[in-house]
Amino acid sequence: MDTKPVFHGSDIEKICSYYGLKKEDIVKFGANVNPLGLSPKASAAIAAHVDIFSSYPDREYTTLRNTISEYCNIPADFILPGNGSSELISLLIQEKAPKHTLILGPTYSEYSRELSFSGSTQEYYHLQESKDFEPDIPDLCKKLEQGYDFLILCNPNNPTSSAISQQDLRQLISFCAKKNIFVMIDETYVEFTPNINAITAVPLTREFTNLMVLRGVSKFFAAPGMRLGYGITGNMDFLSKMREKQTPWSLNSMGAFAGEIMLQDEDYIRQTRELILSERTRMIKELKSVPTYKVYPAYANFILLKILKPGLTSYDVFEACIRQGLIIRDCSSFQCLDGEFVRFCIMMPEDNSRLVEVLKNL
Ligand SMILES: Cc1ncc(COP(=O)(O)O)c(C=O)c1O
Repeated sequence: MDTKPVFHGSDIEKICSYYGLKKEDIVKFGANVNPLGLSPKASAAIAAHVDIFSSYPDREYTTLRNTISEYCNIPADFILPGNGSSELISLLIQEKAPKHTLILGPTYSEYSRELSFSGSTQEYYHLQESKDFEPDIPDLCKKLEQGYDFLILCNPNNPTSSAISQQDLRQLISFCAKKNIFVMIDETYVEFTPNINAITAVPLTREFTNLMVLRGVSKFFAAPGMRLGYGITGNMDFLSKMREKQTPWSLNSMGAFAGEIMLQDEDYIRQTRELILSERTRMIKELKSVPTYKVYPAYANFILLKILKPGLTSYDVFEACIRQGLIIRDCSSFQCLDGEFVRFCIMMPEDNSRLVEVLKNL
C-alpha cells in the first residue's frame, strides 16, 4: 500500500509534526517568498503606527492607488486594490462570468478552483516541456479559435518559471480582442524577472480593454500576511463593476498604509533584485552540471527541475530535503505536468548552497 503523505507547501505545521522537526529550523524553499523578509522601512513604520488599526482605511484607497500608479507607471484610475491577488482572481472571474475558459498549464491551481464555482467550462492549453514550457503563440491562437471567451495566464508562470515576452503578449491580446476573449494575467512574480519591462503586460492595459493584470506584495515584498493585491485594467466599466461587488474596506488599513511604504523602498527593491538575480544564476549553473536533473530557464524567484535519474521520484527528493530541514515543493499535484518534477525558490546564499549540495548527492 502507498502510504506516502501529501503535503502542500504551506502545510508547515503538518510537515514538522510528521518529520519531528522544529518550525524555526525549517528553510521554506516551497513558499516563493523573498528571503529578506519585510522592507525595514515598512517594519519600522508599522511598529510606530499600530494605532492605524483603530481607523477604517480610505474606501477609495486614494493615496495607495497613487503610490501604485507611480510604481507601475500607469494611471491611478486603472488600479483596484484588494485582499491579495486571490480576492481579485475571485472577483474578476465572478464579474466576467465566462462560459468557456482556457488556462495555460501547468499553473497555479486557484484559477481552476475559482472557475469551478462559476459555471464556466475549463480546459488547459498544455505548455510543452520540450519547449521549456514557452507557448507557441500562433498555435495558442489556433486553439483560442475554438470558442473560448476567457484566457488565464500566469507570467512568469508558477511552477515552470517560464515567461512570455511583452511583444508576444501584445500579439496574443490583440488576437483575443478581435475574438472577444478577455485575458487575465497574474503577474505575482514579475518583479523577479531580469528585465521587468520586457515581460510585464501593465503598459498594454493602455492599449487593450480586454485585459486585466493582477499583482500583489506577498512574494516580492515578503508580505503574504498583509493580503495586499491590486488589479490593473484600462476597462473603466469593468473595474467599476468589480468594485461594486467588492466587500467594503477589503484591504485592511495597515496593509494600505504599509503597502505605500514598501512600494517606495528603493533600497529594498534593489537588494532583493540583486540577491535573486545573482543566486538564481549561480544555482542554475551548479545544477546544470548534475546529470540527475533537467533545469529550465527561470524568470521567477523559483526554479523547476525535472528528475531524470531512473527510479528517483519527486517524493524521494522532497523527503531527502526535508530530512535536512529544507522544504521544497513536490510538483506531483500540478495538472499537465507529466513526469517527476520539483520546484524550489531562491533563499539566502548559505541556505541555497545547502540545498544544492543535497540535490547534487541524490
Ligand atoms: C501565481 C500565484 N498567484 C497568486 C498567489 C496568491 O497571491 P496573494 O497572496 O496575493 O493572494 C500565489 C500564491 O502562491 C501564486 O503563486
